[in-house]
This record gives sequence, C-alpha cells and structure tokens, in this order.
Amino acid sequence: MSNVLEGKVVVVTGAASGIGRAVAISAAQHGAKAVIVSDIGDAPREGGTKATTEIESLGVPVRFVRADVSRRQDNDALIEAAAEFGGVDVMVCNAGITAKADGFDVTEEDFHRLMSVNLDGTLFGAQAAARQMKANGKAGSIVLMASMGGIVGAGMTVAYSTSKGGVVLMAKAMADALGPDGIRVNAVCPGTIDTHLLRTNPGIAAATEGFRQRTPLRRLGKPSEIGDAVAWLGSDMSSYVTGISLLVDGGLLSVI
Ligand SMILES: NC(=O)c1ccc[n+]([C@@H]2O[C@H](COP(=O)([O-])OP(=O)(O)OC[C@H]3O[C@@H](n4cnc5c(N)ncnc54)[C@H](O)[C@@H]3O)[C@@H](O)[C@H]2O)c1
Repeated sequence: MSNVLEGKVVVVTGAASGIGRAVAISAAQHGAKAVIVSDIGDAPREGGTKATTEIESLGVPVRFVRADVSRRQDNDALIEAAAEFGGVDVMVCNAGITAKADGFDVTEEDFHRLMSVNLDGTLFGAQAAARQMKANGKAGSIVLMASMGGIVGAGMTVAYSTSKGGVVLMAKAMADALGPDGIRVNAVCPGTIDTHLLRTNPGIAAATEGFRQRTPLRRLGKPSEIGDAVAWLGSDMSSYVTGISLLVDGGLLSVI
C-alpha cells in the first residue's frame, strides 16, 4: 500500500481481533520491518484468519506474544520481544474492553476490571515501550487507542468513557513527558467501528444504528481505516504531531 513505516518495528496490543488486528496488518502493508502481535489469545474473536498468518503472507517478519496488558510484567516481556528486531519504533496500546453492564450503577468489580485493562494496560505498555526507545536512542511513536467515548460522555458508558477520557489526557501528559527525548505520543479516537466489541456489547449494539444514521458518512468505520490512521501517526509523516486525539469517526462528533 505504502512504505511510510519502512524500517519500523511495530508492536500492537489486543491485536488478535478487530481494530488491533487491522492495525497490525496495516503496519505490514505500510512497509513495517517487523510486527509483534500481542493479545491474551491468538484467535480473532470475530473468526477468520489469524493476524500472524495474514502478516506472514505479506512477507513481513511477525511474532505473537501472549500478554495480558493489565499485568506490568507482561508488557515488559512483550517489549523485550522487539529487541530481536532492534527494538520497538511504534508502540500501539490498543487493547481495551467494555463492561457488559456499564452505566451509572456499574459494579465496583466491573469498574476496576475495565480500568485495569483500559488505563493500567495503556500506561504499562507505553512505559515499557518508552524505556526501550530511550535506551536505544530512538525517536519513537506511541499511539494510544482512546475512543469518541473519551471526548463525549454517555449514560450507558460511565466506566468506559471515564477510562477513555483518561487515555486522551494520558496522551497529552506523556507527550510532554517524552517530547524532550523525541518520542511522540498521540491518541486515536475511533467512532463506531464494525468489530466484535461493537456487536457484542448489548448497550452499544443497540445504539449503533442511531450512530450510523447521525454519522455524516452514513456508515460504520472499517477496522482498516483505524489501521491507516495509526500508520500515519506511527510514521515520520506526522513528525511534528504529538499530544493530539485524532478522531476517526466519519464526522459523527462534528454534528449535533
Ligand atoms: N469498535 C469500536 O467501535 C471502538 C470504538 C472506539 C474505541 N475502540 C477501542 O479500540 C480498541 C479495540 O477495540 P475492538 O473494537 O477491536 O475490540 P475487540 O473486542 O474486537 O478486540 C479487542 C482485543 O483486545 C484483547 N484484549 C482484551 N483484554 C485484554 C488484555 N487484558 N490484554 C491484552 N489484550 C486484551 C481481546 O482479546 C481482543 O482481541 C479498544 O481499546 C476499544 O476500546 C473501539
């Protein structure tokens, strides 16, 4: 497709399924030197071919590393796997979950589980990647997967929106912390993207048709469209872009 990621080692969490899978495959299509696919299991939740098989078929070196992002040591081991290829250049902290019964009455257990994946997991992944980038003297790019739900709230996603709003501000704060080392940190805020997460969360699934009708482009997004946005943020084409939250939502949040 392009060579914008030529020479770059790309690590993606939550990359067995949905958006993460598309981000990993897009990275290979955009010329990455190697891709590390990470997840708690390697089978796509939506079915179909494994990300590693797709990437292999493109002739790009690929590794699968099993990691639960909510565990700091898993993130450290994941980043170690990039050393084989010279270290991580682009870290995509994508893994994220919703709570089945989110909303004002979300339980303590669900709230904490969601935060441990969506916030702890994002923090630990970015920390592990930045440490290796600094040790290797690399001006890397870290991309955090937020959401349109991190820009605007909804009563049915009290915990999810809280976590994604945190990711949006984490990108800004980390951009300031890591900028002097030449490391950029940005967030991507997908709108309604057609994945297993969208279809299986009861509240979100019920709201999807309404979102589609209000979206200026009148359709759901494809995971590959997030993959392309992440490729741009990971590439040197965005070399003066840091701390932003890039909405990729078909225009949904631009209209009333
Ligand atoms: N689909 C959408 O419309 C949408 C919109 C906005 C933001 N997002 C965000 O995009 C990201 C990906 O969502 P998706 O729609 O592809 O979801 P998905 O459920 O299809 O895929 C998520 C992947 O993350 C993995 N995962 C879950 N918990 C994990 C953990 N503890 N450690 C490592 N991996 C874990 C799952 O195994 C799965 O493969 C999430 O952060 C989500 O919040 C999605």
